[in-house]
Amino acid sequence: MRRKVTVVGAGNVGANTAQKIALKELADVVLVDVIEGVPQGKGLDMLESAPVEGYDVRIVGTNGYDETAGSDIVVITAGFPRKPGMSRDDLLLANYEVVKSATEQAAKHSPNAILILVTNPLDAMCWTALKISGFPPRRVIGMAGVLDTARFRTFIAEELDVSFENVTAMVLGGHGDTMVPLVRFTNVSGIPLSELTDQATIERLVQRTRDGGAEIVKHLKTGSAYYAPAASTVEMVESILKDKKKVLPCAAYLQGEYGISELFVGVPVKLGKDGVEQIYEIKLESAEQAALNKSADAVKELIEVIKRKMQ
Ligand code: 2OP
Repeated sequence: MRRKVTVVGAGNVGANTAQKIALKELADVVLVDVIEGVPQGKGLDMLESAPVEGYDVRIVGTNGYDETAGSDIVVITAGFPRKPGMSRDDLLLANYEVVKSATEQAAKHSPNAILILVTNPLDAMCWTALKISGFPPRRVIGMAGVLDTARFRTFIAEELDVSFENVTAMVLGGHGDTMVPLVRFTNVSGIPLSELTDQATIERLVQRTRDGGAEIVKHLKTGSAYYAPAASTVEMVESILKDKKKVLPCAAYLQGEYGISELFVGVPVKLGKDGVEQIYEIKLESAEQAALNKSADAVKELIEVIKRKMQ
């Protein structure tokens, strides 16, 4: 049976996500955007790469949701990106409207889909999608930890001059300035990071990870990152469609885990055909738990703003 993934938002993150899904032949792709002509043009352009790249998937671009019906996964990337000097949180109210409308349409046409949120501020947009869709929490997931972890792994591999593949890392918390890179669970082929470099270097790499999104925004000036966000999203899509059961840090709805309730926060989860199949609750040291609580409090503040808006 053919699988179908809808990607909402035909900007840089959305288009790259759609193309990577095609390149890996994971599913047929429907690219949706409100701007007339853009999803149609990009979708057709990608389809015309098929004979050269050798993928047999259908790609269609559209301004509506009829073609999205029956999607297995809907990835929501639509929204305003950051400009230099803006935090992800500055996008809250504008992107709330975008995600609300995309979720309403997606849920109506694909009631059994798994929603993957990419739009910022990520954790608050996941909460919005959960409430608007009425889906069970295991079917609403946020892409952040895979990206934040990829950045941390990149900086570590560069610093130590080792293969990117050998670096395993863990970043918890919200996708914001308070994210929590967990050094204790970061290693190179099993060798703890603390055995390989000094504390000052580790702190520098941790800070660069926290600022990873802003570093790209500063370079680009007119938008935010898209290659690594798209790659990270597709890793999640693949784990779900192939039921690989990868353990990845994702924004998941917590209901008491880590002492946090009714909020999306980045934690390690098992991603399979049912979405979030398990949330791993690892025992944190007190400083780590305090950092996670601080991050969750930052997410909560945004949710309070949305709740007022919803009244
Ligand atoms: C980032 O961290 C866009 O939030 C995304 O680059």
